Amino acid sequence: MNSVVPKTGTSEIARAISKLSLDELAIFGGEPAFPESLHVGRPNIGNRQKFHERVADILERKWITNGGRYVDEFERRIADLSGVEHCVAMCNGTVALEIAIRALGMTGEVIVPSFTFIATANALQWQEITPVFCDIDPRTHNLDPARVEQMITPRTTGLIGVHVWGRPCPVEALTEIASRHGLKLLFDSAHAFGCSHNGRMIGGFGNAEVFSFHATKFMNSLEGGAVVTNDAQLAERIHLMRNFGFTGYDETEYIGTNGKLDEVSAAMGVTNLESMEEFVAVNRRNYRLYDKELTGVDGVSLVKYNEAERGNYQYVVLELDESKTIVNREQLMEILHEENVLARRYFRGCHQMEPYRSLFPHAAMLLPDTESLSKRVLTLPTGTDVEPEQISVLCQIIKTSVSYGSEVRDRLAGREMVSAAGAKFYSDLS
Ligand SMILES: Cc1ncc(COP(=O)(O)O)c(C=O)c1O
Repeated sequence: MNSVVPKTGTSEIARAISKLSLDELAIFGGEPAFPESLHVGRPNIGNRQKFHERVADILERKWITNGGRYVDEFERRIADLSGVEHCVAMCNGTVALEIAIRALGMTGEVIVPSFTFIATANALQWQEITPVFCDIDPRTHNLDPARVEQMITPRTTGLIGVHVWGRPCPVEALTEIASRHGLKLLFDSAHAFGCSHNGRMIGGFGNAEVFSFHATKFMNSLEGGAVVTNDAQLAERIHLMRNFGFTGYDETEYIGTNGKLDEVSAAMGVTNLESMEEFVAVNRRNYRLYDKELTGVDGVSLVKYNEAERGNYQYVVLELDESKTIVNREQLMEILHEENVLARRYFRGCHQMEPYRSLFPHAAMLLPDTESLSKRVLTLPTGTDVEPEQISVLCQIIKTSVSYGSEVRDRLAGREMVSAAGAKFYSDLS
């Protein structure tokens, strides 16, 4: 197989500058470290030749959507890899969530974390189900089961757990709560494809789980998503809902929508699945290097992964303790953006964004740990486009910024905190 890791010379990927002093930082007038931007979530791309052959085959056979060879194969492989019986591939993770929520019969109120991507909440609100935002455990960044229990009302019909950063949320506790209260349990596993929990692959927990294969995910199918479940009846309902509700040529059984994945996207998914282990190996290498470089930097910690489990290492997440670093998260992000490192400050907390900000103006009072965490985290670039030499330079920028924390804070005081690179980047985000 062709290597998916680009072979780029060190001289082209980072300029020969040490970044040991403040004046070498681009924000204070130095040369940016990276001539080309380093992105969070640049797509991992598998064997191009195989992908091209598959696209040629699709065009030759003129079967481009409405099921087909590659969608079937993609679904079979996802089900096998996740250890589940049924997989229904979808055009993206958001529609997969919407359909799973509807097929499960969720209505009224559903409890979700606010510390997630906005699509988790939108998939509910879009169908006029109220997302009830619950706080997280600040150590795991995932739902806190004790607080979930406190949010249950007579209108609650379900829970959605999110495996944030690919680290499993409290699956057993949520399963127990859902079963005791007669609630449906769905997992938003958009981050967690290829990850395991207690030795079992993510995918088979709860009533169903949803993956995203968006370009920013560790494994992409251009756009794409899937619902996986061991419930045959649920899978059948989801299957019909994905295709307008059609049960026959001109007969429908439910209200449905169009959630179909096309053949070219599925072919990309199949191709990338063949390189999945290589993607994980690169991500793990990058993660370990970040960890080594940043260990011992006071006030900076990396989100940890359980090495005994399978992980995809797609998220390199810094947590800052500003009382020690002095330089704050916004300032560090700006420093990195000026160096052409497009670090991302996510998640912000759904309750801080519309329509939820207006619908639930007092939500923050019940979400102290989400509020606090969302101001401390910064996600750094990884994936097959990121080279070890780049990580070393990037970490040196962080170390220099933190070791001169007070001076950085004073020099940046009052400065408008959105660089041209950052503004462009945020406007490009989907
Ligand atoms: C936690 C989470 N849920 C849902 C989604 C939506 O997936 P998609 O972009 O495939 O619609 C994403 C990412 O995009 C996500 O990160």
